[in-house]
Amino acid sequence: MLTPALRGRVAHLTCLRNGGPTQDPARPCRTVHHGGLRKDPVSHNPYRYGLSHSSGLARRRRSDERATTTQIPSINSTNPRCGPMGGSSVFICSKCRAPLKGFAPERCECGYVVPQVDAVFQFCDDPPISLKHDGRRYLGYELVGENYDGPNSSDPSDNGDYGIYGGCSAKLVHLLGRDSVVLDLGAGLGPASITLARAGANTIGADISQKMLSVAAKRASNEQIDGNLIFARMNAYNLPMSDDSVNAVVAIDVLHQLDNPEAAIKEILRVLKPAGVFVEFGSRGLPLTQEQSEINRRCREALSDIRNYYSEALAACGYDGLPFSSWETVTHCIAEYFMPPEVVQTQYDGVWTGAMAKGIHKLRTRASGSAQLIPDDIHDVAWNKTHAYAVSKYGANYAELPGYSRYSGLVKVYRIGSQADVAAESVANV
Ligand SMILES: C[S@@+](CC[C@H](N)C(=O)[O-])C[C@H]1O[C@@H](n2cnc3c(N)ncnc32)[C@H](O)[C@@H]1O
Ligand SMILES: [Zn+2]
Repeated sequence: MLTPALRGRVAHLTCLRNGGPTQDPARPCRTVHHGGLRKDPVSHNPYRYGLSHSSGLARRRRSDERATTTQIPSINSTNPRCGPMGGSSVFICSKCRAPLKGFAPERCECGYVVPQVDAVFQFCDDPPISLKHDGRRYLGYELVGENYDGPNSSDPSDNGDYGIYGGCSAKLVHLLGRDSVVLDLGAGLGPASITLARAGANTIGADISQKMLSVAAKRASNEQIDGNLIFARMNAYNLPMSDDSVNAVVAIDVLHQLDNPEAAIKEILRVLKPAGVFVEFGSRGLPLTQEQSEINRRCREALSDIRNYYSEALAACGYDGLPFSSWETVTHCIAEYFMPPEVVQTQYDGVWTGAMAKGIHKLRTRASGSAQLIPDDIHDVAWNKTHAYAVSKYGANYAELPGYSRYSGLVKVYRIGSQADVAAESVANV
């Protein structure tokens, strides 16, 4: 539960992969205004019936149901485990569109066999990256692959317990119940999927990139996971899943890789069960000594300076990146369709010193959504100039400059509904 001290305050949340809680000017982090917590979930999912978000009926139902709900019903799954998922279905057949039975469906009654590549179920054959101007562009991380994490084991997400992901997953599964079905959308190399499954959720690690999923599946194969984790290639714009089929959709640093996040959010709403939740993981800074803060500040400033230099070097080559979605657009869309989140702090207390090494690694290897598309020749020119600049300003070992951040994990749980409903209700209650 949220501590009283957090209620009504502005909680600064940052990207899990962006070096902990300190603001990074090169990649603005999201800020969640955490006012007016609502704990009464909506027990009807209008998207299940294809009603538009703003339809009067959908709105009326949502507020009627909230008005009659005084307790927070559990968001636990009701399915007793009988093998993962018992006999219920999550996926739909790519050929005949019928629901597929079981959690890891290998074949449909129509005879269609779901293809698998490297232990990843293939639920779509869309390209991993689409830049077609059709209102459905996206940046799968196919050219990023293992570089997404890099070799630096000081990153808490790289070590055996997946650091903050482990803490957040354990907390989420505690809230949902062990038998819940959770879709980790844009699972990447699988840190959330693996830790959710370890904690007991029936987990689907989904991504558009086969490369990312292959690595995730390989990592998972070294874990003692009890048949409750599968990886599936699918597109967030068109989930091959039944309506009302999952208890939670976790999406971490994903929706801003889509130029139409709203379309993906509508898909998320469709597959969520009526009391299902949308979830993000985040982090929150913990106090540092003055000396640690100073170390951290120096690291942040140097990293930001080097990143800016690289961006300017790219611009000098005439390269100006891709106009994709932004954190602000995504935050706005989430607020349109979900209630203000309940923000739950985890017990996790981790120290991270590897921000510089990882930041430089990602810059050098182009390991992010739009950076992966920078042409080789342009990158080589910009990177060589940047490296020379960094050596001259920070010394030959600039990539080893220490950082220092300490943080805990936050689980942001969004229930279906809109913030406009909350506002309307509070006016009505005056
Ligand atoms: C920044 S990474 C985040 C990975 C992971 N959630 C994590 O926290 O480590 C974004 C992921 O979203 C995936 N992605 C991008 N567009 C997608 C789409 N249309 N459908 C599904 N996944 C997508 C990328 O392939 C990539 O693995
Ligand atoms: Zn079929």
